[in-house]
Amino acid sequence: MPTGAGAAGAELEAEVAALLSSADDPGRPGAVQILPRPTRRPARVLLAGVGASDEAGWRAAGAAIARAVRPEEQVQIEPGPGVPAEALRGLAEGLWFGSYRFRDAFTGPRSTEITIRVDDPGNYTQSLETARVTAAATWLARDLANMPASVKNPAWFAAQIVAEAATRPGLTVTVREPEQLAAEGFGGILAVGAGSASPPRLLEMSWQPAAASRHVVLVGKGITFDTGGISIKNRDAMKLMKKDMSGAAAVVAATLGAADLNLPVRVTTLAPLAENAISGSAYRPGDVITQYDGTTSESTNSDAEGRLVLADALAYAVAELNPDVVIDLATLTGANAVALGKRTAALYSHNDELAAALAAAGAAAGEAMWRLPLPGDYLEYLHSDIADRHSSPARGAGSVVAALFLSEFLGDHLDRWAHLDMSAPSWAAADDGDLTSGATGWGTRTLLRWLSS
Ligand code: BES
Ligand code: MN
Ligand code: ZN
Repeated sequence: MPTGAGAAGAELEAEVAALLSSADDPGRPGAVQILPRPTRRPARVLLAGVGASDEAGWRAAGAAIARAVRPEEQVQIEPGPGVPAEALRGLAEGLWFGSYRFRDAFTGPRSTEITIRVDDPGNYTQSLETARVTAAATWLARDLANMPASVKNPAWFAAQIVAEAATRPGLTVTVREPEQLAAEGFGGILAVGAGSASPPRLLEMSWQPAAASRHVVLVGKGITFDTGGISIKNRDAMKLMKKDMSGAAAVVAATLGAADLNLPVRVTTLAPLAENAISGSAYRPGDVITQYDGTTSESTNSDAEGRLVLADALAYAVAELNPDVVIDLATLTGANAVALGKRTAALYSHNDELAAALAAAGAAAGEAMWRLPLPGDYLEYLHSDIADRHSSPARGAGSVVAALFLSEFLGDHLDRWAHLDMSAPSWAAADDGDLTSGATGWGTRTLLRWLSS
């Protein structure tokens, strides 16, 4: 990173040049060289690579700097004259993403002061505000998914979002409790939530600015813990299942961010919230569930719970909300990681334009996704002898079949829908670039970019 070496003198410039010439690929995005100068000021000089000097390169540099600085250190960054606004956005987002720590939610944040010096700050106000809102939304999504499920039951999750929304004018939230879910026919949410001592909820949040030209509905899977139910998961598979509400976290965080940025698009966000628990009141393998649209699903594996709660929310969106676009995000299948590995979500849509726009937003935001097909001839896998469809056929292509199951609930809105299976990228096993070990908040950035475009 350019560091105002000139101002600090020729001596520093020579030290920096010597360090750079001895370093291995110092320009690589995310590379950091540290020059300790214990007896002089500045006491440490960090040299961070920005790669091609595009937004992604600066984001990587920001994250690397955030990891390299010490608590209580005072840091000055001088990106140099004429740095583009996107680069500064990348730098700021990287600094915030990389300095996230879940334990700060309990202990309060560390205070590292980072100053970015530019010649004409007025040019960067908007991009820095966008970065700030994107980071705050991402931190919220990460906090929600990292929160232990002993705290994070459906009522708690809903209460957090009600409180967040209350601080922002123009946002309204309604929370349906079990009685109302029953009265309105949300059979999937009720079945999945039936085994838990913490009953289910359906959260509905609305951002409705006067200038809105179109109406987007976002749906997020909100399983606050997935034991698998009576079709219980094994020990290893269950370990991280507090994160099974990461789709819900991303859609609510992005909606709060849309309100903060005052985006001129109407957004209705649905988060079906339930704990997939085990008890005498849990739903059973072989049960037939009546979904919101009145059709029935046979479930022979209670671990295929996400699609049942999403089906209700999607059917409700189509029947009641008249959306122009419907996007759902869900930690839906382990098969996402089998197909695409740990950092890439599976994207499904019958709409080429929508799929391309989402993938482009993801690429710009630093979240990868790859489109997989919705083959019509696999729909027969969903056949059930006793219900309108089967929720858990075991015939391979797990992520694809789950997406096909959801597609059944879009009715005449099928070509306005996209589904993101983000099971894999919702979690980072260790610090990695701008991801801090734990929940990644995946989808929040992509949705905010896409909503802004
Ligand atoms: N929440 C899981 C999917 C998951 C697995 C998310 C690993 C993140 C990491 C989901 O509810 C599930 O259990 N899916 C089953 C579906 C199967 C029973 C048809 C799966 O993927 O095995
Ligand atoms: Mn499951
Ligand atoms: Zn699940």
